[in-house]
Amino acid sequence: MAPPSQAPRYVRTPTAGFLRSLDVDRPLARVDLAGSIVHTEMLERIGLLTAAERATLVEGLRTVAREIRDGQFPWRPELEDVHTNVEVRLGELVGPVAGKLHTGRSRNDQVALDERLYLRAAIAEVAHPLLRLQEILRRRARAEAKSPMPGYTHLQRAQPITLGHHLLAHYFRFDRDLDRLYATAARANVSPLGAGALAGSTLPLDPAYVAGRLGFDRAFENSLDAVSDRDAFVELLFDLALLAVHLSALGEELVLWASTEFGFVRPTDALGGGSSLMPQKQNPDVPELVRGKAGRIVGHLVGLLTTLKGLPLAYDRDLQEDKAPVLDAVREVATTVQALAEVMDRIEFDAERMATAADDPRLLATDQAERLVRSGVPFREAHESVGAHLAQGGDPRELPAAYRGRAGTGSLDARSAAQRRTSPGGPGGAALEAQLQLADARYGLRSESLSSIDRSNGRIDELLEERTK
Ligand code: ARG
Repeated sequence: MAPPSQAPRYVRTPTAGFLRSLDVDRPLARVDLAGSIVHTEMLERIGLLTAAERATLVEGLRTVAREIRDGQFPWRPELEDVHTNVEVRLGELVGPVAGKLHTGRSRNDQVALDERLYLRAAIAEVAHPLLRLQEILRRRARAEAKSPMPGYTHLQRAQPITLGHHLLAHYFRFDRDLDRLYATAARANVSPLGAGALAGSTLPLDPAYVAGRLGFDRAFENSLDAVSDRDAFVELLFDLALLAVHLSALGEELVLWASTEFGFVRPTDALGGGSSLMPQKQNPDVPELVRGKAGRIVGHLVGLLTTLKGLPLAYDRDLQEDKAPVLDAVREVATTVQALAEVMDRIEFDAERMATAADDPRLLATDQAERLVRSGVPFREAHESVGAHLAQGGDPRELPAAYRGRAGTGSLDARSAAQRRTSPGGPGGAALEAQLQLADARYGLRSESLSSIDRSNGRIDELLEERTK
């Protein structure tokens, strides 16, 4: 094999700098090493490594893992990527037997495997803070279950709801985000190792063994597909883009609510800093930046889809461009969720301001029409008549004169109006309580699913001996 200081032939080219991916793929080192350890086990099982050779390789790979963890690893940019860096370093540590590690394996199926293992960890990295944000939303929704606020359509006051009802709407969006992330993890739980460069091998490889040891459900079906399939990364980026869009919507509401015009949220440094010029300013920088991040993540999704468009089977070097957008999106979304959770945990709602806004009697217009409906008036007629009553300056708390008596008397009170909206999914009493209970139950389920993903990820630590079983 090549002397340690010299790059192997396959990464020697005058444009090596252009081909390099090391700056981006370095975070894959741990999963790459775990995959290699299981690969050596498989090679021993099929008689291509002796037990002693396997033990030497595994020990060397674990040493590399420790060197990387402790910041002692001699990274060499001229070696192109993380895979070659590890392999060359292994040669320095254990000698010529290192040359057997790549038996029956290509960097094409190796990097595909690394990405599947990375994806599982990435989903946990996002899901943990997202569950924390949900936990905060649940707690605050319960506390504000009966706090009146106006509900909006077109950002115009529309109908009476409660703050708890509004916060739970965000909760259920994030519940679907978690569901999507877990579904992506489940579909991606297939091992590509054993596909080789594209066409498998003449050696009697055992991809199912590798798959089982790494916690995958099964091995790939088709070797060309296995080395070129980036569906899981695209799905992950979609999941993250939609999550980022959901986060941006909550961010935008906080920006509005913190404005003097709304005043639903009290000024606090939990929302951000001040102005370098205007001494009175208290800016909602954090929710604004949350809102701003969505563009970047959506861009990554479009970027990767565009890279993949029209690629011929099987592996093409274009595929190397998949890692930068995905790794960036995962880091960014995870920190964005954390930041928003911090904000949601600390802000103070001005319940009195919200209640005053909800006290707008015009919010009762639909309720008046529904009162008429109860007494047999067709809804269109009721809508028309209440509309005319209001247009003529009539009191929204009163029924139109023509119906008084027939449809009941007495005026409606705006503050308690949300409590009368008890249809399923609505803001009133039992309807909201049912949503709170559903949110609790879902939270339990989502936490359990995450524990099982965490357990699969724990296999990497076990293989690297960073954690004992
Ligand atoms: N850095 C490469 C990637 O991310 C590894 C695979 C290289 N394979 C190859 N045939 N050049 O895709």
